[in-house]
Amino acid sequence: MRRPMVAGNWKMHGTRASVAELIKGLGNLALPSGVEVAVFPPCLYINQVIEGLQGKSVAVGAQNSAVEPMQGALTGETAPSQLVDAGCEFVLVGHSERRQFMGESDATLNRKFAAAQACGLTPVLCIGETLEEREAGKTLEVVGRQLGSIIEELGVGAFANAVIAYEPVWAIGTGLTATPQQAQDVHKAIREQLAAENTEVAKNVRLLYGGSVKAANAAELFGMPDIDGGLIGGASLNADEFGAICRAAGN
Ligand code: PGA
Repeated sequence: MRRPMVAGNWKMHGTRASVAELIKGLGNLALPSGVEVAVFPPCLYINQVIEGLQGKSVAVGAQNSAVEPMQGALTGETAPSQLVDAGCEFVLVGHSERRQFMGESDATLNRKFAAAQACGLTPVLCIGETLEEREAGKTLEVVGRQLGSIIEELGVGAFANAVIAYEPVWAIGTGLTATPQQAQDVHKAIREQLAAENTEVAKNVRLLYGGSVKAANAAELFGMPDIDGGLIGGASLNADEFGAICRAAGN
């Protein structure tokens, strides 16, 4: 059985004060025990969040990490080993905003994924097509390439300790959500691609959906057979809304 997961990607939002507010709100939530809940604050606030959520079963992850596992001369980057030292369990790899705006290639992401795993972090690999690619009928090709890049470089076994988030770029922060069926179709294809290499890995890996998930649409999305939870952006900045999404994953 795959344990559902709901992850909040705070992106580049927050101040010490607003993070303190959000921590307070999260601390007051009744979270379903069957759901793994994680938040991904900006790197600067990771310590604040880990300290503030002590005793609450909310895991913390980073939104990005370096291509090298260990600390060293790499100005401006954060090593996976440092994230582990800070108490992180997860790291996002290849969010579309980093692919698009920071020019992160599949080759770079392969290194980030491997470096994270080498330190014991669980990578959350984000994949998804743009609107243009969807309209050109290339969704499965694009997603298949992004996933295939890791499989080719690191082997399908890498997904025994990873999470995958399917996030159609056109649905991120736009208020446009993929329909549950559209999302399910892609999730099914992702699982089939993994199953072609290893059925155990395919059966056990969690596939999250991301892109304008909110409390009002979460239950329907999470009800699909291959959707194991969500990666939540905007709605994760509101503790009550985020809590409602977590509860939807528990039902
Ligand atoms: P959104 O973002 O929920 O604000 O659409 C999701 C994401 O980018 O992870």
